[in-house]
Amino acid sequence: MSRLLIRGGQCVRPDGVTQQSILIENGSFLDFDPPTSAQADEVIDASGKHVFPGLIDDQVHFREPGLTHKEDLRTGSMAAAKGGVTAFMEMPNTSPNTTTAAALTAKLARAKRSCLVDYGFFAGATGQNTAWLREESRACGIKIFIGSSTGDLLVDEQEALEEIFAQTSLPIAAHCEDETLVRANAAALDGGRVISDHSKIRNAEAAAKSAARTIDLARRHKHRFHLLHVSSAAECDVLQDRPEWVTAEACPHHLFFDTTDYDHLGSRVQMNPALKSPEDKEAVWAALQDGTIEVLATDHAPHTLEEKDQPYPRSPSGLPSIEWLLPLMLNSVSNGRCSFEQIAAWGSANPAKVWDLKGKGGLYTGLDADFSIVDTEESSEVKDGCQVTKCNWSPWHGSTLRGMVCSTWVRGIRAYQKDQFADPGLGAPLQYDRGDS
Ligand code: DOR
Repeated sequence: MSRLLIRGGQCVRPDGVTQQSILIENGSFLDFDPPTSAQADEVIDASGKHVFPGLIDDQVHFREPGLTHKEDLRTGSMAAAKGGVTAFMEMPNTSPNTTTAAALTAKLARAKRSCLVDYGFFAGATGQNTAWLREESRACGIKIFIGSSTGDLLVDEQEALEEIFAQTSLPIAAHCEDETLVRANAAALDGGRVISDHSKIRNAEAAAKSAARTIDLARRHKHRFHLLHVSSAAECDVLQDRPEWVTAEACPHHLFFDTTDYDHLGSRVQMNPALKSPEDKEAVWAALQDGTIEVLATDHAPHTLEEKDQPYPRSPSGLPSIEWLLPLMLNSVSNGRCSFEQIAAWGSANPAKVWDLKGKGGLYTGLDADFSIVDTEESSEVKDGCQVTKCNWSPWHGSTLRGMVCSTWVRGIRAYQKDQFADPGLGAPLQYDRGDS
């Protein structure tokens, strides 16, 4: 039996912030406000600091296997821990894609050796592997690219989509951008010549059209569906009319950047779905605020700067962000954009609920002791060349963010503190509490 006592921190939950000591036993929260006589093997003084629940990032691209010059499971999970993320769910567009039982088995084995936070992996849909998707229970969910992005995964035929929604039971997450419209927009712009064309090609109409199509599938098949990376007001409108089993996600890049940022950041802020107008950015914030969007996740998608610096449209879409997730949001509290409580809801309680995660979701007795100790006053400067992510740059280069992660703990074990990391292997597979979906 091992016991850890975190003394005197401000514990952050969706319904409030309370000063409490925390007693942790064998990796789980045992007691909040334990008696002063409580004994522990290690005592950490968190007075003057905030204790946040470990964030659960339900959309990352960690590039292993196959694309490990950009990132791998070890460096990706280190960047996660630094950003206050204690569990991630990884997308299938690696090489090979995670579209077979064997590929998933191999990823789980790699993660067991390499990860220092907890992990889950999506099973990728191809349109030909529905028999596997029907049987697979180890995946966190099914990912469908209904609209192509980085990699070669795309399922756009209605018949194939109907089959997946009809025959599978794992929750489905989808990348929604209407492929036909995106291709027509690209053709009209001669494939795209300048970076700002990216937002004309992958416009709000393409995102909203595909979102509406997929929500219709989810409604008719009564199938759980999570709309990834909402980027526009039009998608937020589409979400107003949805069944209760449809949820949605917002990402930092769509909350902090818009099309006016191409001028100074160029292809560093090229991603899919593309950046939209300043008004769209405000609409995504408003949708998080009013509960239309439940989950905050990064869509961390690293590429090297050399790759990004190729002229558009050869420059790849995607950007790294997980390492700054909690500081970005803490900085947003300083700016009056959101509250500590909302970070706990969007980043931990809600994703745990959406994905039926066993033992996760916040600072509550009996749950896994996943948390970060945070100094909300301390600032740090984001600098290219000093990043944990293997691609070693950040779209926030040059920004000073108020609010710093001092340490991150996974099931009661320190995964990160002041640029020191636990050994790989600390992470464990996420467990799912699934009834009928
Ligand atoms: O911009 C993106 N990059 N969007 C995606 O959907 C995929 C990602 C990647 O893997 O690079």
